[in-house]
Amino acid sequence: MADRIVRIRDGRLSEEWTPDDTGDERLVVDDRGWLRLPEPLRVQTGVASRVRAAAGAGSIVLTPTAPPADAGPAAAGHVARVPGEPVVRAEVTVDLGGRRVLDGVRLAVHAGTLNVVRGRSGSGKTTLLRVLAGLERPDAGTVDVLGTDLGGLDRAALAELRRRHVAVCGQRPVLVETLDVVGNLELVRQARSLDTSAGLIDEWLDALGLAALRHRPVRVLSGGERQRVAVARALAVRPALALLDEPTSQQDEANVHRVVAVLAAAAQHGTAVLAATHDPVLAAAADTVLELA
Ligand SMILES: Nc1ncnc2c1ncn2[C@@H]1O[C@H](COP(=O)(O)OP(=O)(O)O)[C@@H](O)[C@H]1O
Ligand SMILES: [Mg+2]
Repeated sequence: MADRIVRIRDGRLSEEWTPDDTGDERLVVDDRGWLRLPEPLRVQTGVASRVRAAAGAGSIVLTPTAPPADAGPAAAGHVARVPGEPVVRAEVTVDLGGRRVLDGVRLAVHAGTLNVVRGRSGSGKTTLLRVLAGLERPDAGTVDVLGTDLGGLDRAALAELRRRHVAVCGQRPVLVETLDVVGNLELVRQARSLDTSAGLIDEWLDALGLAALRHRPVRVLSGGERQRVAVARALAVRPALALLDEPTSQQDEANVHRVVAVLAAAAQHGTAVLAATHDPVLAAAADTVLELA
């Protein structure tokens, strides 16, 4: 219903359009000449960090000075992954507040694959992830994680299974507020008796654009930065199963691509990744999409 729509990126007006000219967004050049190139355009044309600019006929032609890198993280869309063993097999029914939220939903999540669960708000995406993580019990059905029936485990045993094999990244990132970014990642690796050498943590920070924030207390970070720390923390333990609830919901376009690239890379390394999402970029990179009614 708006007359004019503008997009702000990095603190400046970057694009504007009206509801009628869908697909015809105008990039805004400010009075000093700054312009922000949209991520899809950069990926498509192989524009990385340096370009030559030349005047064309009523146009400016930008030419990358280096050939595009092969499948760099930002370009990693869909790549062929080989599914391994099923890490999760589930068939669950859940009633909440007198309503059947999940009605015999069946799914299998294989090692080395990126999987997405989609559905309107309230369709049970969060509930499904929580049941698969053993944080809630289904009213009927079974959840099998790495060959173990969660129904046969008590709370302590469920916690132990998660500590060893499962990473959970919730819809609202819960971080350790008294620690900095690196400290949050070190803590989860320590809790799993994994090596906490800097190199193993830095690769996640670099991939998610967090390197410059490594010693910043997480309590001062923006919502999007906190969410990327939560994604890094989930994947930095190289879990057998990673469950992420709307992991790109607070990201701008460039960072959506970063998050999707690290999820794809984690799957490539053998993790079974399951993400609840509305994000078309994440869904496009997935091996399987489960639609909840
Ligand atoms: N503890 C609860 N008690 C009652 N209803 C709940 C509870 N948790 C979730 N619900 C309801 O269950 C439905 C599914 O919620 P949720 O799994 O969060 O959906 P989604 O993540 O797809 O938006 C919603 O209608 C929600 O209001
Ligand atoms: Mg949800």
